[in-house]
Amino acid sequence: MKTEFIILAIDTSCDETSVAVTKNDWVLANIVYSQVEFHQKYGGVVPFLAQKIHQKLIKEVINKALAKSGKNFNQLDAVAVTIGPGLPPALEVGVKKAKEIALKYKLPLVGVNHMEAHLLSSFAKNSKGKGGLKPKFPALGLLVSGGHTQLVLMKDFGRYKLLGETIDDAAGEAFDKVAKMLNLGYPGGPIISQLAKEGKAKYQLPVPMAQSKDLNFSFSGLKTACLYFLQKIPPEQKTRQFICDFAASFEKTVAKALTLKLEKAINKFKPRQILLGGGVINNLTIRKEVRKIAKKYHLEVCLPYTNKLLTDNAAMVGVCAWYQAKRKDFVKNLKTLDRQPNLNFW
Ligand code: KG4
Ligand code: ZN
Repeated sequence: MKTEFIILAIDTSCDETSVAVTKNDWVLANIVYSQVEFHQKYGGVVPFLAQKIHQKLIKEVINKALAKSGKNFNQLDAVAVTIGPGLPPALEVGVKKAKEIALKYKLPLVGVNHMEAHLLSSFAKNSKGKGGLKPKFPALGLLVSGGHTQLVLMKDFGRYKLLGETIDDAAGEAFDKVAKMLNLGYPGGPIISQLAKEGKAKYQLPVPMAQSKDLNFSFSGLKTACLYFLQKIPPEQKTRQFICDFAASFEKTVAKALTLKLEKAINKFKPRQILLGGGVINNLTIRKEVRKIAKKYHLEVCLPYTNKLLTDNAAMVGVCAWYQAKRKDFVKNLKTLDRQPNLNFW
């Protein structure tokens, strides 16, 4: 059975045009072109603008990734591409390009679920084979990004159960919207977390879904509570210190909402390790609160070897694709390549 795969991986699920070259779980090259400056003036990602920029850049980013890895098309064993979830017009660009390459070079194609790739990001090793996690199953994944907030139980590679997810906004979306209310710019997460460092979490905000028995999340109520709270503060009191304190309070509330459900899931499913993934996991307060819970249950908290693998990137797609390729999980018919929106194939 073939287990060695050099893979060209593409992710165009949102506003990052990213291409990686991986050899098994080693990341040989990972080029991420962030479109953020183009979307900034709209205060969020504009799907058709994202599509246009992906179309313009994809070829160049592929060539850069190949050059950096020292590989060429003829040395590849497979092509991988994110097939969902994501913004349909944006996803389409990567899927079309990956199909083209697969046909031209007669390579098998791996269709990757973006959330599975986030979940497996901790298993990636660097270009020298360093880093990367040893799996201990069952593992519990907490995936927190701009589009998703999910708790996933992982029984093995390829076997996942979606335990809970947001019923409205994702946590990252809440960060972005609250930053917008404070006129702080886009994306809000990094700005809020920077300001929160200088603040004290002294304002009480409601912890979403604290009373619910299930493992779902909700962030739209918190967003509204923030709006009402901020509307009551006169402009002259919205000093830098106030904004820092508010940012710290908001961040702490999001962390509490996430860890409440994480702890519930730990009690119920007794995982052996916790896998973290997604852009919001860059947030140090959230990490600290997750670590506190993990320590209580003597659990290891797992993160990728570099923060670059938390936000959207194709390296995690390549690594995920390797696990799929080993089990011969290739796209059977290029013409009927379908999307796979849910990480729920236990
Ligand atoms: O995983 P990601 O790159 O894209 C999606 O798949 O959605 O996550 C992007 C999200 C954005 O909402 C951004 O504001 C948030 O991650 N983010 C953060 C931080 N860095 C990025 N949120 C909180 N604190 C951060 N330090
Ligand atoms: Zn993502």
